[in-house]
Amino acid sequence: MSKKTFIFDLDGVIVDTAKYHFLAWQRLAAQIGIEFTPEHNEQLKGVSRVRSLDLILALGNIEATQTQKNEWLLQKNTEYLTYIEEMDESEILPGVMQVLEYLKQHKQNIVLGSASKNAKPILEKAKIMHYFDAIVDGNDVSNAKPDPEVFLQGAKKVNDIAENCIVFEDSVAGIQAANLANMISIGIGETNVLHEADYIFNDFTFIDLSFIENLINEKCV
Ligand code: BG6
Ligand code: MG
Repeated sequence: MSKKTFIFDLDGVIVDTAKYHFLAWQRLAAQIGIEFTPEHNEQLKGVSRVRSLDLILALGNIEATQTQKNEWLLQKNTEYLTYIEEMDESEILPGVMQVLEYLKQHKQNIVLGSASKNAKPILEKAKIMHYFDAIVDGNDVSNAKPDPEVFLQGAKKVNDIAENCIVFEDSVAGIQAANLANMISIGIGETNVLHEADYIFNDFTFIDLSFIENLINEKCV
């Protein structure tokens, strides 16, 4: 069996934390007087914390000083951390463990490619840190998704080339980043949102292990 690199996004792909980001942003937006809907939230998925706030403020045509923005960023993250403080492996999304186990058994590279600065504590709480050969998160990158930097850094960390990598993503920005990196993109979520992906599944329970086996053996280069 050949060796590929499988890069996983974190929020909304491995763990069900996308809902906590949404709740924390929604509360902040309401406090500022901005209506923030689940549709608006799709644009924030995969996007860095700083850029997310800018997008929300733009929705309400609000300009703010850097000091005010820093205060709001801290407030959002503090609320988000209260949600994830309690989390454990029960927040791992259905079907994910089966795929991680299969990849591990077949000695594939497993990499995390997340925009979140909270990625490592979340992996620890979910007790899955040991599956990962490399981690690239929001603390490592200077260009947020849809820039491909996070995934290219991931490939580099395991000494692989982009054309040998497969990315699992739930966000539009993340799918665009994977495509720009020349990696195979697999969307986890709704077809009408993630239509730019090479493959789309509602969630990991729809991914047959034979599909993973084919990806491993497919000649990409
Ligand atoms: C991404 C999420 O994974 O990380 C975004 O999809 C989030 O919603 C971003 O804003 C940054 O996360 P954090 O934990 O650093 O605020
Ligand atoms: Mg995500």
